[in-house]
Amino acid sequence: MADEKIMTGNEVNDWETLMFLYGSAIKEINTKIEILRDEFQFMHHYNPIEHVTSRLKSAKSIVRKLQREGHETDLASMQQYLNDIAGVRIVCSFTSDIYKIADMISNQDDIKVLLIKNYIASPKQNGYKSYHMIVTVPIFMSSGPKETKVEIQIRTIAMDFWASLEHKIYYKFDGNAPEKIKEELVECARMINELDDRMLSLNEEIQAIKGKEEEL
Ligand code: GTP
Ligand code: MG
Repeated sequence: MADEKIMTGNEVNDWETLMFLYGSAIKEINTKIEILRDEFQFMHHYNPIEHVTSRLKSAKSIVRKLQREGHETDLASMQQYLNDIAGVRIVCSFTSDIYKIADMISNQDDIKVLLIKNYIASPKQNGYKSYHMIVTVPIFMSSGPKETKVEIQIRTIAMDFWASLEHKIYYKFDGNAPEKIKEELVECARMINELDDRMLSLNEEIQAIKGKEEEL
C-alpha cells in the first residue's frame, strides 16, 4: 500500500509522549472539577455537578478527523488542528449551574480559555444545546510546562439526555436521518428546554421557601 505510513521508533515515542500529555490534562481537569464540587458542597451545602465523564480520542478517530478536514496526519497537525483529543463533559442539574461552573474553571490562573462555543445562547439548528470551552492546562514535565488543550462540554442532564439520543440517531442514519425524525428531535429539544426552565424555577421556589424557614 503506497500511502500507508509506518511510524519510526522516534515517532512512536513522540506519539506516546503526546498522548501521555493529553491523558494528564484530563486528570488535571478532573481534579479541578472534583475540588470545585467539594468546595461547593462545603460552602453552599449544594452540589451542582451530577456527573463527569472524560475520554481520550482514539488514534483511529484522530486520523479520520484530520483526513476529513484535509490536514496532514502527523503529530504537528493533530496538535494544531484538533481541539478535542482530550475531552471532559460536565453534566449539571440546572442551566444556571452551567455558567457558574464555566466561570469557576476559567477563573483559575493556570487555565487559558482559547475558544468558547455557547450553544446554549445560540442552539444549533437541530436543537443541540451545550456550553463548549477549549482550554489549555499546563502539564509539568521534567523538561518544563506544556500547555495542553482540553475540550470541556458543560450541559444539564436534560440536554445530555437529548444529545445522547441525537448522537445515536445521527450515526444510525449516517447523518441523513429522515425529515420526520429530524423534526421530532427539534420538538424534543424544545420540550427539554421547557423542562429545564421549569426545573430551574421549581428549584428557585424551593430555595426561597428554605431561605424563609431559616430566617424563622
Ligand atoms: P467537531 O464537531 O468535533 O468536529 O468539532 P467542532 O469544531 O464542530 O466543534 P463543536 O463545538 O461544534 O462540537 C464538538 C463536540 O460537541 C462534538 O464532538 C460532539 O461531542 C458535540 N456536538 C456538537 N454538535 C452536536 C450535535 O449536533 N449533536 C450531538 N449529539 N453532539 C454534538
Ligand atoms: Mg461539530
